[in-house]
Amino acid sequence: MSFTVAIDGPAAAGKGTVSRAVAAHFGLAHLDTGVLYRAVGKRVLAGEDPVAAACALRAEDLEVAGLRTPEVAQEASKVAAIPQVRAALVDFQRAFARRAGGAVLDGRDIGTVICPEAEAKLFVTASAERRAERRLKELVEAGHPASYENVLADVRARDARDTDRAEAPLRPAPGAVYIDTSELTIAAAVDRAIAAVAAARA
Ligand code: DC
Repeated sequence: MSFTVAIDGPAAAGKGTVSRAVAAHFGLAHLDTGVLYRAVGKRVLAGEDPVAAACALRAEDLEVAGLRTPEVAQEASKVAAIPQVRAALVDFQRAFARRAGGAVLDGRDIGTVICPEAEAKLFVTASAERRAERRLKELVEAGHPASYENVLADVRARDARDTDRAEAPLRPAPGAVYIDTSELTIAAAVDRAIAAVAAARA
C-alpha cells in the first residue's frame, strides 16, 4: 500500500535532515526533489537549454558531483521558475510518491502540486538568518568558504524567487503541519515531524 509524506519548505530549513529521519523511522523511500532541479541547473550551466535538459534528465545526472554548490543552487532556483521544466519533472515525482511501501518527498511544491493527496504533509521552515548560519556551516565543512552576508543574500534571493514565481510557488499546503526549526534542535524537529507522520498513519 502506498503512503506519501510531503515535506516542503525554504532552502536550508532542515527539510533534508527531517525527511531522511522520517523516511528511516517509518521505512519509507526518500526523494530530495531539489536534486532534480539542481541536476537541470548544472546542465544549464554547462550550456544546455533548460527545457531540453529537464526532458533529457537521466538517473545518472542525479549522482554527479558538484550539485551542492551555491552557483548550482541559484541556477536550480532559476530553472525551477520555468513551467515546462517543472512539467517535465512531474511524472517521475508522482510515480516515486506512489511507489509500493511508501515514500517521503521533500521540496517546495510537494504538498501543493505534486501530491496534494499525500497522507501526511509538513511545512518545515526557519528564519532567514538561522538558515543562512546553517548553510554557511555546511559550506565551510564542505570546503566552500563564504561570508555570512553573501550566504544570507543568497538565501533571501532564492526565497524571493521560489516564493514569488507564478508556477508552483513555495507555500504551505492546506492542512500541513507547520514546524519552525529556528529555535529547535535537530532532534526536537525530527521528533515533531515523526509525531505528525505517526498521527497521520494512525
Ligand atoms: O531544496 P534545494 O535547495 O536543493 O532546491 C534547489 C532549488 O530547486 C530551489 O531553490 C527551488 C527548486 N525546487 C523547486 O522549485 N521545487 C522543488 N520541489 C524542489 C526544489
